[in-house]
Amino acid sequence: MDTIVILDFGGQYTQLIARKVRELEVYSVIYPFSHPVEAIRRESPRGIILSGSPCSVYEKGAPRVLRNIFELGVPVLGICYGAQLMAHLLGGGVERSSRREFGPATLKVVDGGTGLFAGLDTEQDVWMSHGDSITAAPTGFTALATTGNTPFAAMACPARRLYGVQFHPEVVHTRHGKEILANFMRRICGVASRWTMGDFIASTVEGLRSEVVDGRVICALSGGVDSTVAATLIDKALHERLTCVFVDNGLLRLNEARSLRRRFEKHLGLTVRYVDASARFLRRLRGVRDPERKRKIIGREFIRVFDEAASKVRGVEYLAQGTTYPDVIESVPIAGPSSLIKSHHNVGGLPKRMKLKLLEPIRQLFKDEVRAVGRLLGIDEEMVGRQPFPGPGLAVRIIGEVTDERLRLLRKADAIVVEEIKAAGLYGKIWQAFAVLLPVKSVGVMGDSRTHETVAAVRAVESLDGMTADWVRLDHALLNRISTRIVNEVRGINRVVYDITSKPPSTIEWE
Ligand code: XMP
Repeated sequence: MDTIVILDFGGQYTQLIARKVRELEVYSVIYPFSHPVEAIRRESPRGIILSGSPCSVYEKGAPRVLRNIFELGVPVLGICYGAQLMAHLLGGGVERSSRREFGPATLKVVDGGTGLFAGLDTEQDVWMSHGDSITAAPTGFTALATTGNTPFAAMACPARRLYGVQFHPEVVHTRHGKEILANFMRRICGVASRWTMGDFIASTVEGLRSEVVDGRVICALSGGVDSTVAATLIDKALHERLTCVFVDNGLLRLNEARSLRRRFEKHLGLTVRYVDASARFLRRLRGVRDPERKRKIIGREFIRVFDEAASKVRGVEYLAQGTTYPDVIESVPIAGPSSLIKSHHNVGGLPKRMKLKLLEPIRQLFKDEVRAVGRLLGIDEEMVGRQPFPGPGLAVRIIGEVTDERLRLLRKADAIVVEEIKAAGLYGKIWQAFAVLLPVKSVGVMGDSRTHETVAAVRAVESLDGMTADWVRLDHALLNRISTRIVNEVRGINRVVYDITSKPPSTIEWE
């Protein structure tokens, strides 16, 4: 398969580069900048892209790559820091610029003949985000494009197929960004094949059939997109040898367990063992207020329940998981503290004695690709388009103790939020929208009497990957409808507030 290797120097857009490359139907992988050049050579990629970084190339400790990366005979495209690093390592000059450039700029192409700008306007809008600039190109390189601030906004040594751009072709604000990346891959690297989700399904099914010769596969379904798509892919490959387990932990949303069950069986034809463990989970959570303890208890209990269910299935040799690419990419810890501040709960910690071999059929895919695969597998839009929902479920949205009564309140309030967001046509456009139950009571008046009831918060966020997020500027009439309906329809809640914090400094969930 024709592959583009992306080396990550800790830039904020590295994953975006990989996704853009894949949108152009070229397979891409991300490695940390320290990935050995020899390993890259063995992989024989068609091209290499060097990402951006918050660092300066001349700083002590700045992330580097060995210079022989430029001697593999493989085309290289440096983006922003990647271009500066190329200039720096090959004898050019990089300096802190007197005028930093953040935001839009007009690019003037001075040499369009090399392929990178082939077929594109000679003047185009690009997106800049840099404090350093290339002041002198290395020997053999020429400027392909300039901006008012930057003489080497794009440079190249076509004989060695080395290219550098100061701007970010991967962000939407660079008008011809996709075409520039396409030119690099198709014209310069010579990538001819197309990597499509249809091919992905065919090769994954074939791979699963040859890998899993004997034994059964077990897969925990959470109700989310990833595990559903992973299970459906395995079902397509191995059908009757797959057994899924769905654990109702009692922390699901209104009617969720029932509707998931119907969907898995009727619509997807999966073989599923349902375990209603809600009483067990709720018993263990009684009196627990600390969010980390809640997560730990739920994680541990889940493993116990899953283990019990799995041990009843004969001949299990494989465990399937819906791991996706963002969980696999080794993060480059330059960009700041890891975003995994909370202990996320998943099935990673299964008891070793189970000795199962792991199957992760979608570990190469980003979320939007998982959804595309799901659609091709015939999974309905309502399932494929589901917003993420945390493993510990409503327990992390009930601040304080989880009780039956508080679950009842939150389920009703949450269902109203989701219903109204859907009615407004926003559900598929935003990352998540939900309700949170606060451990606070406030005074109100309803009819002629005074009330003293619980406060609910509404959270709606936009995000690309859950790592950072911004609160959605919901229309006031919509907020009003949500608030009025919750207070009128959910007896026990008399006040609704809207969360207007982004992540960071907040997180998406409240706990
Ligand atoms: P935070 O709250 O950390 O959430 O900003 C980021 C994304 O992760 C989801 N989330 C979880 N998912 N287990 C999960 O499987 C968890 O424990 C968990 N906690 C948060 C959250 O819904 C958001 O999409």
